[in-house]
Amino acid sequence: MARVICFANNKGGSGKSTTCANVGYSLSVLGQRVLLIDGDMQMNLTLSFFSEEDALAMARSRRNLYTVIRSGADLSGCVRETAYPGLSLVPSSLLMSGIEYEVFSKKRRTDLLEKALAPVAGSGAYDVILIDAPPTLGSWTMNLLCASDEVIVPVEASPWGLFGLANLFDHLAQARKSRPELAVGGIVLTKVNERKNYFRQTLESLRELGDVKVFDTYIRVDSAIEWAQDVSRPVMAYKKSARSAGEYMELAKEIMRNGSR
Ligand SMILES: Nc1ncnc2c1ncn2[C@@H]1O[C@H](COP(=O)(O)OP(=O)(O)OP(=O)(O)O)[C@@H](O)[C@H]1O
Ligand SMILES: [Mg+2]
Repeated sequence: MARVICFANNKGGSGKSTTCANVGYSLSVLGQRVLLIDGDMQMNLTLSFFSEEDALAMARSRRNLYTVIRSGADLSGCVRETAYPGLSLVPSSLLMSGIEYEVFSKKRRTDLLEKALAPVAGSGAYDVILIDAPPTLGSWTMNLLCASDEVIVPVEASPWGLFGLANLFDHLAQARKSRPELAVGGIVLTKVNERKNYFRQTLESLRELGDVKVFDTYIRVDSAIEWAQDVSRPVMAYKKSARSAGEYMELAKEIMRNGSR
């Protein structure tokens, strides 16, 4: 079975999609067979690897996460190859904005993604599956968590970065009732500016949470990330020497060490 990791935090802009995309790419460079799943209607994970034009074409097609969840099919029919070996992606769709209602109307089911994912996760084709969650804690995000073995929480090193984290952990406890094996892989600090004291304060506050791992690796602010996203590439494929490229590689290695199941 592939190891399924969800990148989640209800705080918007905390670096979920950026971390999911770049960790995924780094893992593929390390020889892992990686499947990325874009669970957010903003399509940011899809746009990390495909042009706007291609992403919109995928969104309009029948081969995306939304159509699969609606039809009850499995995910294998909508896996797309990226430009990089060992790295595939299930695109999202703008229509995902309606998914909350769809899930809700299916008697608040929490196993829709788990069921769609099971044949793919068990196929032996992938070592690791990474899911990018939207910045919400509704029924759809619950579906993403209930399909995962592990959740990694990107937290922005900013004064409001920690706000709402307790709420997320309550939600994880809720998800664990349906998915007991769901573990917290850890918290990763993103958009760090080491010259600001907030960074140290955020780190201390996180460490005070006690039993939750805080990754040793953190990701500093790096404009190369935005330039890379502008041309739909992971930062390492855009500029190998970029500081964040090295940091994401370190994070990927830490994730591998962390969770060899
Ligand atoms: N290390 C970094 N350095 C500079 N900019 C960054 C960094 N990480 C992320 N960003 C930028 O911050 C913004 C938010 O990042 P991202 O989209 O990954 O967050 P998110 O948590 O997925 O957001 P949402 O909650 O909307 O899904 C993006 O514009 C991204 O380019
Ligand atoms: Mg995102």
